[in-house]
Amino acid sequence: MAHYIKNVFIPRDEIDKVVTQLAERISEDYKGKEIVMVGVLKGSFIFLADLVRKIQVPVVLDFMSVSSYYGGTKSSGIVKIIKDMDVDIEDKHVIIVEDIVDSGLTLQHLKELLLTRNPASLRVCAAFDKPGRRKTNIVADYIGMKIPDEFIIGYGLDFDGKYRNLPDVCILAIEGGNE
Ligand code: IMP
Ligand code: MG
Repeated sequence: MAHYIKNVFIPRDEIDKVVTQLAERISEDYKGKEIVMVGVLKGSFIFLADLVRKIQVPVVLDFMSVSSYYGGTKSSGIVKIIKDMDVDIEDKHVIIVEDIVDSGLTLQHLKELLLTRNPASLRVCAAFDKPGRRKTNIVADYIGMKIPDEFIIGYGLDFDGKYRNLPDVCILAIEGGNE
């Protein structure tokens, strides 16, 4: 698919401010507790790395790998668990960390799955949110930034596996539209 990077949408210093604010809120909300933070691979890896270094309470890290996009820009609606987490979350305070909530199908599926493991609490933190595209009534507890219905890349987010390493969030233009 022909595509090009249209413009920088969220510059790195703005992202940093947002991540700092999120970390402050989380540190306050979980004062005196330990958190298990589960990064959803691959998109969350940069956000998670930035976030955990700003959090002031003990954190146990783990990862899950799921796939719902299969190379395009539109969700297939199918969520496949490629790698499950290793840590036992029973009676633990768990936060799922996602790059972006789009349809919400990935998070809904993950939340349902992790709830069957009886955590003490389960919340969701996402760097970005596209509320206009929601297909479920999932609400993320911690959101960095709400964005309009644009396809973004960089800061961990990819198009067809590429551009995750861009330090700023950029808008991708795709020939024939983003659908
Ligand atoms: P959902 O299940 O539709 O909420 O999709 C969530 C996943 O879709 C995210 O974790 C991303 O991997 C991917 N995604 C959704 N919107 C974008 C975008 O604008 N850029 C890059 N990836 C996206
Ligand atoms: Mg992705």
